[in-house]
Amino acid sequence: MTTPVRRVLLVGFMGSGKSTVAPLVADALGWRAVDFDRVVEDRAGATVAEIFARDGETRFRALEADVGRALLEEDRVVLAAGGGWAAEEGRLDDLPPGTVSVWLRVAPERAVARASAEGGVRPLLAGPDPVGTARRLLRDRAPRYARADHEVDTTGLTPEDVTRRIVSLVDTEPDSQTDN
Ligand code: S3P
Repeated sequence: MTTPVRRVLLVGFMGSGKSTVAPLVADALGWRAVDFDRVVEDRAGATVAEIFARDGETRFRALEADVGRALLEEDRVVLAAGGGWAAEEGRLDDLPPGTVSVWLRVAPERAVARASAEGGVRPLLAGPDPVGTARRLLRDRAPRYARADHEVDTTGLTPEDVTRRIVSLVDTEPDSQTDN
């Protein structure tokens, strides 16, 4: 017997559209959307940028790991992971049953443009050459992101297009629309 789909996990680089698309997918499925970074911020009482500046990246990663563990126990949710969460070795290889993971692919130039248009501070892209940094990080992280069950190349797609693709992926999995 196959496990019913209980949650969708969106992973990918900063600016790939995870936080934009998660609520749209959640609406389409009648589920909730939850963003890892927002939960980290609520728990810490500080923004991601403040946590990086005040406590360092290691502390942020520990908070993010705790939040990820807790959210992956929830049902009927579409989760938008922070860009670094899935970059950790083994993260996508050991997901709870019923989780469908989707890598939203984005080119580094586009990611940086989107991330700056969205506003907010991405500490990892705050240096003098954000595109160069994004290229390097993406090259290092891509093999980890590629462990997701599915991938959607967002190039040239609107958030609604991306949403339709994700929903169709989930629809092909068993029992995604059931109430239990
Ligand atoms: C990070 C991505 C950010 C945020 C933090 C670190 C990363 O989330 O968690 O700035 O390491 O890629 P988004 O991917 O939602 O921008």
